[in-house]
Amino acid sequence: MREIINGNSLTLGTCYYPEHWDRSLWREDLDRMLEAGIRVIRIAEFAWNKIEPREGEYTYEFFDSFLDVVEETPMKVIFCTPTATPPAWLAEEYPEILNAGMDGTLYRHGSRRHYNYNSAIYQRFAANITEKSAAHYGPRPCVIGWQIDNELNCETSEFYSDSDTVAFREFLKKKYGTIEALNEAWGTVFWNQTYTAWSEVYVPQTTVSNSTNPHRVLDYLRFISDSACRFAGLQAEIIRKYKKPDDFITTNGLFGNLDNHRMTEESLDFITYDSYPNFAYCLDDYKEKDLLKDRKWSRNLTETRAISPNFGIMEQQSGANGWNTRMEAPTPRPGQMTLWTMQSIAHGADYVSYFRWRTCTVGTEIYWHGILDYSGRENRRLRELRDIHHRLEGLQEVAGSVYEAKVGILKDYDNIWDAQLDKWHERVDRESLKNLFAAAQLTHTPVDFVYLTERTGLSDLRKYEVLFYPHAVILTKERMALLEAYVREGGKLVMGCRTGYKDMSGRCVMDYLPGLAAELAGTDIPEYSFVAPDDGKVCADWDGERIEAAVFNDILAPVGENAEVLAVYADSYYAGEPALIRNRFGKGEAYYFGGAFSLEAAKAFLRRLGAAQPYAELLDVPEGCEIAVRRKPVTENGAAGGAAAAGETAGEGAAWLFVLNYQHEPVQITLKRPMQELTCGKLEEGTVTLEKFGVKVYRIS
Ligand code: GAL
Repeated sequence: MREIINGNSLTLGTCYYPEHWDRSLWREDLDRMLEAGIRVIRIAEFAWNKIEPREGEYTYEFFDSFLDVVEETPMKVIFCTPTATPPAWLAEEYPEILNAGMDGTLYRHGSRRHYNYNSAIYQRFAANITEKSAAHYGPRPCVIGWQIDNELNCETSEFYSDSDTVAFREFLKKKYGTIEALNEAWGTVFWNQTYTAWSEVYVPQTTVSNSTNPHRVLDYLRFISDSACRFAGLQAEIIRKYKKPDDFITTNGLFGNLDNHRMTEESLDFITYDSYPNFAYCLDDYKEKDLLKDRKWSRNLTETRAISPNFGIMEQQSGANGWNTRMEAPTPRPGQMTLWTMQSIAHGADYVSYFRWRTCTVGTEIYWHGILDYSGRENRRLRELRDIHHRLEGLQEVAGSVYEAKVGILKDYDNIWDAQLDKWHERVDRESLKNLFAAAQLTHTPVDFVYLTERTGLSDLRKYEVLFYPHAVILTKERMALLEAYVREGGKLVMGCRTGYKDMSGRCVMDYLPGLAAELAGTDIPEYSFVAPDDGKVCADWDGERIEAAVFNDILAPVGENAEVLAVYADSYYAGEPALIRNRFGKGEAYYFGGAFSLEAAKAFLRRLGAAQPYAELLDVPEGCEIAVRRKPVTENGAAGGAAAAGETAGEGAAWLFVLNYQHEPVQITLKRPMQELTCGKLEEGTVTLEKFGVKVYRIS
């Protein structure tokens, strides 16, 4: 059985850098960690020189002696490949391993992540160091798993080196076969961009007004993702040869231009995320009255569990954060480390590892605090960690259960990347995702992100009563067939403006909109417009309720006998025209809303489609609290019901309700029936006070 994320235990860990500290501190540090409840450490992700100090010269003395000390204790280790930080000697001897900016300037040694995925030389060195590390450290009894690299695509997710251009050409040749097919897909007839040979094709380069062919950029983003996935795959394949059978392979972080689903399916046992919620207080768009604040990080956790329902947090914030050159996040207030740990667990994390044990005294990250400050003295955060450990003892039965949601928000990488490069798409997408997520949070309606990939089938969708596909600008016949099957069976699908006007190359379709979605939506779109700035707020009137149709308005017209106008625009020159159409399709319903989803629109859909507050019969909680339910998956043959299993493990179908108070003052919640609270072990009922940053976990079945 795996040591962590094994369905049986919730485990705490921390990130440790033996190379930063005098050897005399190692044993003491490990003992102090164990005393505080830390069972696992992650090591070595930036320590290439400790294994290969010069080209081809390998030494194992450093980590051998550290692991010898570890093995005097029960501590377990996640060992990392060090490829995020290539050594100086490597960059000096082989500058082709370096990544470059769009203008071709090489990123030099001195920071991290300065390599490119496609350099054949870097791939060789990365494969060698992975092989040497895995072969030597894989058999060590204390090693329980492997982290590949560190935060792939963090710092930069764009690659413009010569090696990337060479690999991009190969990627395109495989995809298009001929240069003519590429010209057609990229619409290079526009502005005389036509290519006559593959050697003329480059990764995007600096151009006048920074304008680039969008179809080329879309393929370029797919290419970057492919490159990162292949790089992770290269390492995973090597580690698999040497790791012990139960040891796992993971990597950390969720960064741009990377199909994390594909990477996880191909190379990992599960994904881990790095969670620093206190940056919510420092974002540019931070507003004092914003109710979500650090709760916004639940959106990232929602992304993480869309990849691995049970995942790990490889880096959980445990102190003030910042580089010496940028970023700043305050020290967690008393109780917030606990809150954020529980936030992660509420979404499905069965492993939470704090970044980092000691705060580094040198380098860029001297302000990125860990549990201990520079001196290493006993402190408040260490005391809070002990308390978290103590509380988790009562919560172990939750392990292996997964987040429960009846509402899904559909996503796909083609549209994510198109929205990234296309400002019109980006505006509606950003608005709707922000508001749909906030509306779900504020109405206590758990949601999942559901990614449409080549592997997605009807069984992945039918568990949702309502699915939103906010702005499926790019649509394919295959995805439409799946959505039609979902609605035909009884599902409710809600689409927003701008659906279906592009194909997979990002070319606009010469069709009546919403293109491939027209039949399912029962809608025609004779006209459309951005909301004119001088119109201010344009609303739709939905049975007397005015809801904002934000950013962009498709002016609709019902098509077919099953289509019905539910709301009309109340403002602008299109007042009175349809803004929302419901089309009955098979046993289900498709809704087409002409705008992006404002907060009030998102709330109205959740309420009117009967999806809001699915746990209202259990409790009332104020808006400022998040709720989440984790349930043990029910297998086909398994009997549902919490009492089904023997021993410590809860049975299939057993469920727990988390209530998390992000407010800076106590709140009251009302329990509508007696419920067992796990962190204090008491039965609670009626009005219960939740202290500021307080968390309750109730067993509900
Ligand atoms: C993460 C990274 C860590 C550390 C931390 C603070 O992004 O994985 O290595 O750098 O942030 O910057």
